[in-house]
Amino acid sequence: AKPVTISDLARMKAEGEKIACLTAYDASFAALEDRAGVDVVLVGDSLGMVVQGASTTVPVTVDDMVYHSRITAAGLDRAFLMTDLPFLSYATKHDALETSRRLMGEGGAQMVKFEGGEIQANTIEHLSMRGVPVCAHIGLQPQLVHKMGGFKVQGRGDAAETMIRDAKLLEESGADMILLECVPSALGAEITANANVPVIGIGAGPDTDGQILVIYDILGLSPGRKPRFVKNYMDGAGTLDEAATNYVAEVKNGSYPGAEHAFS
Ligand code: KIV
Ligand code: NA
Repeated sequence: AKPVTISDLARMKAEGEKIACLTAYDASFAALEDRAGVDVVLVGDSLGMVVQGASTTVPVTVDDMVYHSRITAAGLDRAFLMTDLPFLSYATKHDALETSRRLMGEGGAQMVKFEGGEIQANTIEHLSMRGVPVCAHIGLQPQLVHKMGGFKVQGRGDAAETMIRDAKLLEESGADMILLECVPSALGAEITANANVPVIGIGAGPDTDGQILVIYDILGLSPGRKPRFVKNYMDGAGTLDEAATNYVAEVKNGSYPGAEHAFS
């Protein structure tokens, strides 16, 4: 199949075709997702939790991300590959450039993603002008867990205006994509309508340009209490391929996420 490019993703937003995204951490799952028609595969630093067994994403290293990016890239034929920059590997724009060099050069990433609002504007500009495509991850930022003392829905009340301004600023700084985590659906819709780049949501309601989930979550492999936005696609599916294909179909036709997966 013809590989998905950044221009294809921009066109999908323009044409209102939903962008289906999933995380992967190795070649087998990457190939499964590719067969299912996933458009963007993310090597997320959720790696720390779902693969390495840590309770947060904080311990993940650049070497870990380079290795998992490389073995994920090896399984892909069509999907666009995005990789997370791990905790404090992008604290300065110089660090961010060097980490991106490794993830793209050694890890085969076609875009890097990192967390933060206004504070990342200069870094995004620095990377973007040097040929690094960037996805700006705003809303809930899992790498801030120890600073925040836990996780909750972001962008309620006055914080909504700040997030709308941040999204615009990061786009103007050169971000090619925005990832919006755990915000009320109305805010997800407004940021998406204002943005000229694709907005991918996780727990951000039905109106973003695309959706992303953690692969193990959609396969029912993650133990414990699951976040509101998670849907188990193994319910009623006979195979992993069928589950992944059903996820892509439901993102494309807009039936995922339902109201039960969203925050109001
Ligand atoms: O690390 C990750 O898997 C992510 C997605 C859940 C958005 O950042
Ligand atoms: Na992440």
